[in-house]
Amino acid sequence: MTSDSPVFEDLLHEEREFPPSKDFAAQANVRDGSIYERAEADPEGYWEDRAKELDWFTPWKTVMNWEPPHVKWFEGGTLNVSHNCLDRHLDGPRRNKAAFIWEGEDGDVRTVTYLQLHREVCRFANALKDLGISKGDRVAIYLPMMIEATVAMLACARIGAIHSIVFAGFSPDSLSDRINDSECKLLITADGGYRRGQVVALKDAADKALESTHSIEHVVVVKRPVGEPFPCTMQEGRDVWYHDVIRDASPECPAEPMDAEDVLFILYTSGTTGKPKGIVHTTGGYSVVAQTTMQYVFDVHEEDVYWCTADIGWITGHTYVVYGPLQTGATSVIYEGAPNWPGNDRFWELVAKHRVTLFYTAPTAIRAFMKWGDDLPAKHDLSSLRLLGSVGEPINPEAWMWYHRHIGSERCPIVDTWWQTETGGIMITGLPGVTTMKPGCAGPPMPGIAAELVDEKGAVVPHGAGLLAILRPWPSMLRTIWGDDERYVETYFSRFGPEIYVAGDGAKRDKAGDFMVLGRIDDVLNVSGHRIGTMEVESALVDHPAVAESAVVGKTHEVKGQAIAAFVTLVGDREMTPELNDELKAHVAEKIGAIARPDAILYAADLPKTRSGKIMRRLLRDIAEGRALGDTTTLADPAVVDSLRGEYEEKEG
Ligand code: PRX
Repeated sequence: MTSDSPVFEDLLHEEREFPPSKDFAAQANVRDGSIYERAEADPEGYWEDRAKELDWFTPWKTVMNWEPPHVKWFEGGTLNVSHNCLDRHLDGPRRNKAAFIWEGEDGDVRTVTYLQLHREVCRFANALKDLGISKGDRVAIYLPMMIEATVAMLACARIGAIHSIVFAGFSPDSLSDRINDSECKLLITADGGYRRGQVVALKDAADKALESTHSIEHVVVVKRPVGEPFPCTMQEGRDVWYHDVIRDASPECPAEPMDAEDVLFILYTSGTTGKPKGIVHTTGGYSVVAQTTMQYVFDVHEEDVYWCTADIGWITGHTYVVYGPLQTGATSVIYEGAPNWPGNDRFWELVAKHRVTLFYTAPTAIRAFMKWGDDLPAKHDLSSLRLLGSVGEPINPEAWMWYHRHIGSERCPIVDTWWQTETGGIMITGLPGVTTMKPGCAGPPMPGIAAELVDEKGAVVPHGAGLLAILRPWPSMLRTIWGDDERYVETYFSRFGPEIYVAGDGAKRDKAGDFMVLGRIDDVLNVSGHRIGTMEVESALVDHPAVAESAVVGKTHEVKGQAIAAFVTLVGDREMTPELNDELKAHVAEKIGAIARPDAILYAADLPKTRSGKIMRRLLRDIAEGRALGDTTTLADPAVVDSLRGEYEEKEG
């Protein structure tokens, strides 16, 4: 996505405005716009007030300690996230309230109350201790969308173990890389799950990953709790069943007092090198932002039924499926499967069935629904909905309007939320009871968040186009990259010095101060809202014996936002055939995971390079997008581009 994309040019001229309705504003958790000025006048005081919404075992001594680019929040304070998610709800009416309503792909439903979840978490926390896990140990979680995944996270948090969740769609190689990087001692996985009716043999994949890890001592295997068990092998002495280890475990386990700055979790995300970054989040500040954004952005009330469709393998699943909703005592839906299984109206069926009131999904899903037709949502009663959310990628105004009309019945506010794995929680979006929403526009920074546009020199641009930066630390900011603080400094705080967090996105800002986020400006793609590094895909391609060299770029895609276009040169006298093309795509899917499968692979006799040998991706992007070529004067061999372009056009038709 580039700033000269015509769709986003139009955004600056967006004139449709949607102020909050009187009814919504009257009941909203935030009704008064003066919150922005109050937070800006005293950001630390604002966050301190927000922190008081949580239970602390001991109060903090300092609110913020900023030694650029490293920050500490709420130092001296101790708390436990699992306590805040569970224990503190048990004394009142939330005790028997549904925490999660899980629905399987084939329609089985399981509901777990706060009390039940508490007991299960305590039992599993005790089981983890028995398996030798203690505070600070790393635990890898490789699970499909099931209640046990949330139990695993909360059990780790309860005893102070650090979880590292790996999306269950990732390959064995991706899992072992992540396990090795943070030296996880234990892996929690499942026998299998369902995805579009297909069995996903998760334990088999985990076993394959474990062939190249050295730190794992035990594997806990969850048997999918409903339906037939999936066959899998258990390794004597290493592997144990979840239901066996919790059977006799005590349902009481005191929550470990954690320092506000103790690590809560590591979550790997793609960067500009081939190696994913282990983003480190800590306990106190992260919880404060999760709590605040649930209340302010999703406007969660006691009687709401909230559904965030993200997988727990991504940051959205961490903050807005598990920690945020549970801290605020919400009832959430968790769905096991795909939006189009068994029918393309599965989401709307679930909204109607569970009377969902707050719904949070990704633009890629919205665009797919648009394609599948207006009649599908129209078939279902969506009148329970009162707020809609969008996350993960820019939402184009057409998709925004469709969401507004066909899902929100022109009644529900839409919060388009910009944030990142690194920010831990939502940074930019409107407040639904206060802000006038505009299609395709994320809105203003959240109260207390100093998001700004800056120019190439780091100077603030009040409106216009620029780079998205955050000029002041916020509580849920990543603290470092696991095992590589240098990379942390280099990636986020080197371009304009250690005080300015550079997000890696380009954006525009209008005169009202609202942001339109355009997309990544680095070598990171955003495919269906998933971050994928071009280098990761390139490494997977050159890993294939037929490939000599590869260059990967993003190409605009109607549904996915971006699709992966790969250019490859082959070794020796290998020739590209349709079979080899398919094999290369499959190879990438096998090395990384199906989400990284290229849409198009183009054979090239040579790749366009500068005289110093650097691949000119800018030109490849132009070719992939079918655009006029940018400056080619630095190209070593201009003929390469002409031949490439000819081949690409022929292939793409
Ligand atoms: O490019 C931005 C895009 O997603 C990136 C962050 O990806 P990840 O860390 O995987 O987190 C995704 C879920 C929070 C950002 O750098 N992005 C995220 N939300 C939006 C967005 N782009 C435009 N509008 C959004 N609302």
